[in-house]
Amino acid sequence: MKITLLGSLGHINQYVIPALVKAGHEVTVITHSDKRVDQIKKLGAIPAVGSMDDEPFLTKQFTGADVVYLMLSGMSSDPLNAAKTQGQVFYQATKAAGVKNIVDLSSIGADRPYEMVGTLSFYHYIEDALSQLKDVNITFVRPVGFYSNLFSSIAMIKQQKQLVSTIPADIKREFVSPQDIAETVTALLLNTPKGHNVRYVVSDEATGQEFLEGLQKELNMPELKYVTITDEQFEAALIKQGMPKSVAEGFTIMTKSQRTPEESYADLRAHQPKFGKVKLADFIKIFGAVYRGETEGHANTIADK
Ligand SMILES: NC(=O)c1ccc[n+]([C@@H]2O[C@H](COP(=O)([O-])OP(=O)(O)OC[C@H]3O[C@@H](n4cnc5c(N)ncnc54)[C@H](OP(=O)(O)O)[C@@H]3O)[C@@H](O)[C@H]2O)c1
Repeated sequence: MKITLLGSLGHINQYVIPALVKAGHEVTVITHSDKRVDQIKKLGAIPAVGSMDDEPFLTKQFTGADVVYLMLSGMSSDPLNAAKTQGQVFYQATKAAGVKNIVDLSSIGADRPYEMVGTLSFYHYIEDALSQLKDVNITFVRPVGFYSNLFSSIAMIKQQKQLVSTIPADIKREFVSPQDIAETVTALLLNTPKGHNVRYVVSDEATGQEFLEGLQKELNMPELKYVTITDEQFEAALIKQGMPKSVAEGFTIMTKSQRTPEESYADLRAHQPKFGKVKLADFIKIFGAVYRGETEGHANTIADK
């Protein structure tokens, strides 16, 4: 098969590309950096340098592909309009290229409004734009929160021996690893189900208390505490770190939504996904290695090696 992937040598593609190449497929990988060209070739894939917001470039890369993988990357100071524009670019490019099969990396929360899930609702604009392609097979892959988001706790653990969150320690939360997302994405690229479908991806579930207890052992830090802060304190901290107020608000609402798992995970539960392989205990070991500086954590993809 001819397969075109957005996402360069990112956290998910570091597993997807070798699996597809090994299975004998012709894989084109889009990067917006000349620096990745040799690394992509080394993996046995074909590099295509250009940006995901460049519609004529995407149309060219998608033409002749049996299936394409779409995703969003990077932070924008205006994520709402960035998602709306990107949705239109994906729609126009896949339509003009005559693509018949699409796997789109979306997110949990893509089905709900801004007031309920904040930033996550922006994925809805991509799903909506692509949903206009009536005679195209599309699976919207909706991962839950990445384990790697928890790396943002490292600075506070180092400074104050505290895990700080707006989500109380006894609330169950769902987590996913890029490895488990990659397994789902690879299978869907090779066999995209007919029609428009949603596939949730989740690796494990755990409370903040379970994460705390795992870290106390892994970091040999029995005094590590879990501290719950208010939404206002959380938003103020994001703004202090340099995040625009509107973006910080979206993140605060997104985090707040996890305090009511019966609502935030309702559609996920209705789809009954099986748990993936990477468990909280596996992630805690990775967290320990990142904490101790033995590995680079979220930034550590094959692109960095
Ligand atoms: N964090 C979460 O909890 C969560 C939850 C649900 C969904 N998600 C989604 O999952 C995504 C992360 O997936 P990932 O970790 O595999 O990706 P990633 O590592 O964040 O990014 C993949 C690569 O895309 C390339 N890229 C960035 N901007 C580009 C552009 N304008 N045009 C073309 N390529 C561009 C970059 O590589 P080059 O420098 O080589 O171009 C980047 O390394 C997030 O962006 C989000 O959409 C995240």
